[in-house]
Amino acid sequence: MLTAAAAAPVSRSSGRHGEVRGARLAPRSSLFEGRFGRMFRTLPGAEFDEAILTALGAAMTADPDPPTPETQADPEENTGISAGYTYFGQFIDHDLTFDPASSLQRENDPDALVDYRTPRFDLDSVYGRGPSDQPYLYRDDGLHMLLGDPLTGNAGDPKARGLPRNRPEGAEPARALIGDPRNDENVIVSQLQASMLRFHNRMVDYLAQKDGASPSFDEAQRMVRWHYQWVVLHDFLPTIVGWDTVNAVLPSFAHHTSILRDPPQLKFFKPQKEGFIPIEFSAAAYRFGHSMVRPIYRLNATADRLPIFSTSGPSLAGFGAFPSNLGIDWRLFFDFGNRPPKLGPTRIQPAYKPDTSLVNPLGSLPHSVASDPPPSLAQRNLIRGWRMGLPSGQAVAAQMGFDPIPDGKLIVGKADVEDAGDNKKLTDISPLFSENAPLWYYVLAEAQQQFDGNDATPIHLGPVGGRIVAEVIVGLMAADTHSYLRQNPNFQPFEDFRSSSGNFAIADLLRQALEA
Ligand code: HEM
Repeated sequence: MLTAAAAAPVSRSSGRHGEVRGARLAPRSSLFEGRFGRMFRTLPGAEFDEAILTALGAAMTADPDPPTPETQADPEENTGISAGYTYFGQFIDHDLTFDPASSLQRENDPDALVDYRTPRFDLDSVYGRGPSDQPYLYRDDGLHMLLGDPLTGNAGDPKARGLPRNRPEGAEPARALIGDPRNDENVIVSQLQASMLRFHNRMVDYLAQKDGASPSFDEAQRMVRWHYQWVVLHDFLPTIVGWDTVNAVLPSFAHHTSILRDPPQLKFFKPQKEGFIPIEFSAAAYRFGHSMVRPIYRLNATADRLPIFSTSGPSLAGFGAFPSNLGIDWRLFFDFGNRPPKLGPTRIQPAYKPDTSLVNPLGSLPHSVASDPPPSLAQRNLIRGWRMGLPSGQAVAAQMGFDPIPDGKLIVGKADVEDAGDNKKLTDISPLFSENAPLWYYVLAEAQQQFDGNDATPIHLGPVGGRIVAEVIVGLMAADTHSYLRQNPNFQPFEDFRSSSGNFAIADLLRQALEA
């Protein structure tokens, strides 16, 4: 096996989603706490070879499929998670892994042994290095964020704006001028980033109105961050891992107390000094979102549906301006409490199930997303995890005290009635996978165990994947001395921002963003 440090990375393309500075060298020493580390330091890296991982990645990529008409149920959809959470998940990943230190600083430290910034839920992907250092992201008042051109298509959002972009000459793509370039990777995450800019502006205006004077930038930023952190813990996390796991890691939620009385229960992720990102999270468990990507999306009631990527026509691929009639209607992505009809062009689109199948467009990523081979996202994930020396899924499960899933139940393919009968077993692809599954595959296969023969049964992450994701998210927030958990554990979102049920979820945050 290649050692983690010796292996060549799959891709080191700059500024793209997935670039992991220093993750190639995630030391096993129990003393090391750089930017990337390990949760299960004593477990050896699983042994594979590139050929069998390539074969598994191919088997995990679905065949091309004509889009299901909107008037018909699509069995690959997950009734438990709506499509917006996929891209909110991608946005959160970028927030955690973005480092606003200059690339020059980083080039001087290719292995990230110096931790310029620790991973925090601080929206530096939105704020960059702040109004003094990056004034071109801000209005002249140094308080409001700059927005881009108006967008149409959603009559419910007359103030819709895209991201600010440069105006290059000729046919050059108009790049987004934002804190983290990766948040323009596709048209959906791009509009989520634009909505976050608007939420910041809304917060500035709201505080000014409430207090009768403009807030300081720091005050507005802190309130934006705390409301976002609240949504990550109270909405995103339970949606992805289920309330049982959230309550086990955050008993203060279950008991309605504060973390001062009921501290987080972190059994496997225990950063001693400052937060770091374990590779079990970044190279495996948190890549669950790749299997939730749909092949096609409706952005609003009027524009045609578009594939996420296409090699032959228009798509939602990003890193440049897109047609202005694609203004997103978030009611088609999140539950705003006024559930539209179940089928047809005005319903909430569900995410695809977290299972061991990725949609076909992710088998041939555009050059703008992955400039080096392989273009298959499944193959990239599997090879990346192996080269980083990740332990097998079964080894991690056993270490966490869960019964590993037996070989006979580890299958490859879609979790739906039509396809389940044709799915191969993992060990049919290679006997080397016997009791030795790649961790990323295992996390998805574990979620797939919840498929009970009914296409409508909701699915979220299972015990291993769910616990890794929950512990890292909670652990990072608890390690951040600026987070609301540390600074003000009794913080509550503004009354005025909550839904009629008193909740403050991502839909409520976006509802506020639409005001700006
Ligand atoms: C259309 C949507 C997406 C595309 C095209 C995409 C593409 C990619 C690519 C090309 C990589 C680098 C692979 C490698 O070479 O190792 C990557 C890494 C990664 N992706 Fe995605 N991704 C998408 C959505 C998501 C979502 C929804 C999530 C989670 C909810 C996610 C989480 C990650 C993580 C954790 C990494 C590891 C590196 C990092 O932290 O940035 N991705 N993705």
